[in-house]
Amino acid sequence: MAPCSFFTLFFFFFFLFNLALSQQGSTFQSDRTVDCTDGWIHIRRLPTRFNLDLLGNCSEYPLFVNFCPYLANHGFGQKTHNHSYSWYRTDALMLELIFHRRMLEYPCLTEDPNFADAVYLPYYASLDALRYLHGPEVNSSTEHGLELFEFLQEDEPGIWKRRLGHDHFLVMARPAWDFSQPLENDPPIWGTSFLELPEFFNVTALTLESRAWPWQEHAIPYPTSFHPPNLALLDSWLERVRKSKRSTMTMFVGGGGNSATPNIRRSIRNECENSTGNSTTYGGGYVKLCEIVDCSNGICEHDPLKFMRPMLQASFCLQPPGDTPTRRSTFDAILAGCIPVFFEEQSAKTQYGWHLPENEFESFSVHIPKEEVVYKGMKILNVLRGIPGSRVRRMREKILGLIPRVMYRKHNSSYGLRAKKDAFDISIDGTLKRIQSRLEELALADR
Ligand SMILES: *[C@@H]1O[C@H](CO)[C@@H](O)[C@H](O)[C@H]1NC(C)=O
Ligand SMILES: *[C@@H]1O[C@H](CO)[C@@H](O)[C@H](O)[C@H]1NC(C)=O
Ligand SMILES: *[C@@H]1O[C@H](CO)[C@@H](O)[C@H](O)[C@H]1NC(C)=O
Ligand SMILES: *[C@@H]1O[C@H](CO)[C@@H](O)[C@H](O)[C@H]1NC(C)=O
Ligand SMILES: *[C@@H]1O[C@H](CO)[C@@H](O)[C@H](O)[C@H]1NC(C)=O
Ligand SMILES: *[C@@H]1O[C@H](CO)[C@@H](O)[C@H](O)[C@H]1NC(C)=O
Ligand SMILES: *[C@@H]1O[C@H](CO)[C@@H](O)[C@H](O)[C@H]1NC(C)=O
Repeated sequence: MAPCSFFTLFFFFFFLFNLALSQQGSTFQSDRTVDCTDGWIHIRRLPTRFNLDLLGNCSEYPLFVNFCPYLANHGFGQKTHNHSYSWYRTDALMLELIFHRRMLEYPCLTEDPNFADAVYLPYYASLDALRYLHGPEVNSSTEHGLELFEFLQEDEPGIWKRRLGHDHFLVMARPAWDFSQPLENDPPIWGTSFLELPEFFNVTALTLESRAWPWQEHAIPYPTSFHPPNLALLDSWLERVRKSKRSTMTMFVGGGGNSATPNIRRSIRNECENSTGNSTTYGGGYVKLCEIVDCSNGICEHDPLKFMRPMLQASFCLQPPGDTPTRRSTFDAILAGCIPVFFEEQSAKTQYGWHLPENEFESFSVHIPKEEVVYKGMKILNVLRGIPGSRVRRMREKILGLIPRVMYRKHNSSYGLRAKKDAFDISIDGTLKRIQSRLEELALADR
């Protein structure tokens, strides 16, 4: 109990302090090199019931985890150990907090909504969704978001009306699937209907995974556990990744694969287990062809050491779909310089276009269609063994360049690190462009 409330209170205090600072205006605008020509953002002032109050209920969901420990350090969670500078026990659900904290130091904030190119809603949508997903309001999940909408219409309605919500955006730290329950499902099957409400069709939602067809959401990277505070720490990590000895060819970090019905995880398990125990040294200097780090039942979720060390020692990391096509592990693998192997395009290629350039996927990842593996006997390990070492090295070099783009750096980090665009910066760029082109389409762009 005690550590939870300590962290929560600390967080509250610090947060409000920052909030107060930012609302006085340009406190964070000390970097004179910033160009704000297409990027003024107004942070919509919301009552605390839409954000901070939700944190106070972190231990109130018996059917979900107690997420109080993950609130520490502005949503990064606790450090992995006392002397760590960059590594935290980060939970992906906390992206809404992480994002909010970074928004407060965005260099081009404006107090004046009429001057803004975009309006950020600091609403912790996925935390508010918990009462519908795992709480007492499970049967009213079509109401998720209506309270927010009502507030936006009643309090300073001009901010919404100016562009009918087309310039508004928010973060929803879950796959869009969790918010796409058709309104007519009664009782609900799974999820809330936030993204199905016509009230929010015009708002850009940044989710961890988007739906297969174009909609109002756009996917941004899952947060990993690495949040360096300065350039030196980022560079030393990159150096470690570059030099790491890769003695295992293929790594799968995850669970599943024990079902009786054929599926990609079962194929992986069969192939991988059959290949272990073979100590022959393979081409490429590998000691092992394949290894599984069993992370069933979420045992690795807040313990990055369990999977980052093995991933540093592997050349390829398998990213099969599970409950959803995307996984956080894709970003952990990139961070470790381990080449991701995808089994369907929905796992990353059609998702993270802002952060992982869609037309360059072959240069840093491998695609093996899952149908070929599950039903046609294609062997994953044979495909991967057939990739020449020179190509593997080029792919890894490319991945090293992607690491800064997919990580969320620490807030208030050094200016050297701020000069590099991280996952947050790239998300903002993408959002601003998306809003801009939408407004042009609708001829609502006039200032
Ligand atoms: C927090 O939980 C209490 C009791 O479980 C509930 O009454 C309250 O509405 C919740 N607050 C929010 C902001 O969800
Ligand atoms: C970490 O620091 C805290 C407080 O500073 C201390 O109570 C705790 O024992 C330390 N943990 C380790 C593993 O050193
Ligand atoms: C939700 O609805 C189902 C079916 O109508 C019912 O069995 C269940 O008790 C309801 N849950 C709550 C929390 O009201
Ligand atoms: C969304 O935009 C459309 C077209 O611009 C507009 O007709 C509609 O009223 C807007 N919806 C809301 C809830 O403002
Ligand atoms: C691989 O393992 C699975 C079960 O683990 C088994 O059914 C299959 O026959 C094995 N294949 C080979 C080639 O040994
Ligand atoms: C170990 O690998 C070598 C080289 O690929 C292969 O010839 C041999 O059959 C494998 N042994 C076992 C027990 O799988
Ligand atoms: C940001 O970091 C600097 C030192 O790097 C420190 O002096 C300052 O208080 C920090 N500001 C915030 C808001 O954390």
